[in-house]
Amino acid sequence: MRRVNVVLQHITRSASAVPEVSLQATSGADTLSVVDNRTGKSYDIKITDNTIKGGDLKAIKGTDGQGLMTFDPGYGATTCCVSKISFIDGDKGILRYRGIPIEQLAEKSSYMETSFLVLYGELPTAAQLQKFEKEVMQHSFINQDLNKMTECFRYDAHPMGMLCAAFAALGTLHPEANPAIAGQNIYKDPAVRNKQILRIIGNGPTLAAMAYRHKIGRPFIQPNPDFSYTENFLYMLDVMHEGPNGFRPHPKIVHAVDVLLILHAEHELNCSTSAMRHLASSNVDVYTSISAATGALYGPRHGGANEAVLRMLEKIGHKDNVADFVQKVKDRKETLMGFGHRVYKNYDPRATIVRKLVDDVFAICGTDELLEVAMALEKIALEDEYFKSRKLYPNVDFYSGLIYKALGIPTDMYTIMFALPRLTGWLAHWQEWVVDPDNKIYRPFQVYKGIDVRDYEEPKNRQAKIDDAALAAPRSAVNRRRDAAKGEARVAYSQILPGTDD
Ligand code: CMC
Repeated sequence: MRRVNVVLQHITRSASAVPEVSLQATSGADTLSVVDNRTGKSYDIKITDNTIKGGDLKAIKGTDGQGLMTFDPGYGATTCCVSKISFIDGDKGILRYRGIPIEQLAEKSSYMETSFLVLYGELPTAAQLQKFEKEVMQHSFINQDLNKMTECFRYDAHPMGMLCAAFAALGTLHPEANPAIAGQNIYKDPAVRNKQILRIIGNGPTLAAMAYRHKIGRPFIQPNPDFSYTENFLYMLDVMHEGPNGFRPHPKIVHAVDVLLILHAEHELNCSTSAMRHLASSNVDVYTSISAATGALYGPRHGGANEAVLRMLEKIGHKDNVADFVQKVKDRKETLMGFGHRVYKNYDPRATIVRKLVDDVFAICGTDELLEVAMALEKIALEDEYFKSRKLYPNVDFYSGLIYKALGIPTDMYTIMFALPRLTGWLAHWQEWVVDPDNKIYRPFQVYKGIDVRDYEEPKNRQAKIDDAALAAPRSAVNRRRDAAKGEARVAYSQILPGTDD
């Protein structure tokens, strides 16, 4: 009902495929009665799944003939698809993949099994799981052109930027899987979809490990398909001279990272998954869609929050500075990264599970002094009325960042650790979108409030109407030096070195 009320509050324009009624609201009916006060007409709009159809509102037309729209920046009250992949109840702190509670999956499943569940809707049999994991691992080898591409990045390039580029580049290596080249309907074939799924999930850890090794200046190494998915990923990060027979990551660390992968595999229509569906709706190749979704995840309000949490904790520096920082948040000078969620308004069930993992990882890798800062921050924020009244609780990123820190993973790699498992969720939504009979190109509308119409003005007749300050872009120190050499500030040579001509 809250959703419908919000929609109604935002009604800005309004006329009539929707049945017109006399307003005698029948309580208990699954309809919404609306009076358009501009025309005096009343309408009965059907409510299904606590949702009214936008098209039903559009059929309500004012005297100008314009259909009624809803205004919903941030899509806080908009549903755009029917999905069967994951269920979230933000008030109760519930997350289920294909109906199975996240707590059960974290305790009993593996990332590969969860990935199969999320992608195909059912838990695999033992034989199906073995086949799926084997095929994913066979696709862990990447085309050597991607090695060359990675080598071209600067030593300090952000791994997420490299990953976005790598997925887009991967698409260029597979023209047979590109609707622009191979035909608009190729993705309707489940075998074609399966192939891209295996390739993307299989290549993901190798591309991520490559970004990491490039950053720390180690040579790229080949995957070991005999290891499990997660073990192989950690192996590719860490192996030095030992080779696959001499180095295996610690099993408890493998387990902790595997649980983190499960927790991050899917989260319905968040910013990056919506981006995935948005791109898919144009029928662009799936690699470009994955690249775009990776880009959306990179943002600090979304998956980039785990990195932002660490940067925030480093900035706070010591637990004695926490109270001051919290005051700055309340004064709106800072954002408390790792707190708050668009959907979870009670607690984030993933955060509860990760919180428990923190101790396991610290027992193996040692604690980190930033944990004290994090715990002091958590305590103050959970007790403070400002955060309680706004239902701001730690989210999954608050604790996952601490684990990555303890594992010695560089801060700018944290979002990569989120992107890898989310490949599963993005691909599940891509599959669902491809076979959805209601799929249409995504194309929202706007309320236009700009200048109505005016004539083009010749340059000689124009007066500046934009303040120069609004157009300013800083010059780099190098360019300021170059400007000085040729600009007004230039001092004649003859003044500096008497006797020379300028
Ligand atoms: N620090 C301080 N104030 C906050 C925060 C925060 N992290 N988050 C929300 N608020 C305030 C907000 O200013 C508003 O206050 P008021 O009503 O006085 O104006 C109030 O709380 C309600 O916020 P909201 O409008 O319901 O928040 P939203 O749904 O638009 O944004 C969010 C959700 C996740 C973008 C936001 O909470 C945020 O920026 N959090 C920090 C970044 C972060 O940790 N993101 C990771 C999310 S979990 C991983 C994922 O799935 O992406």
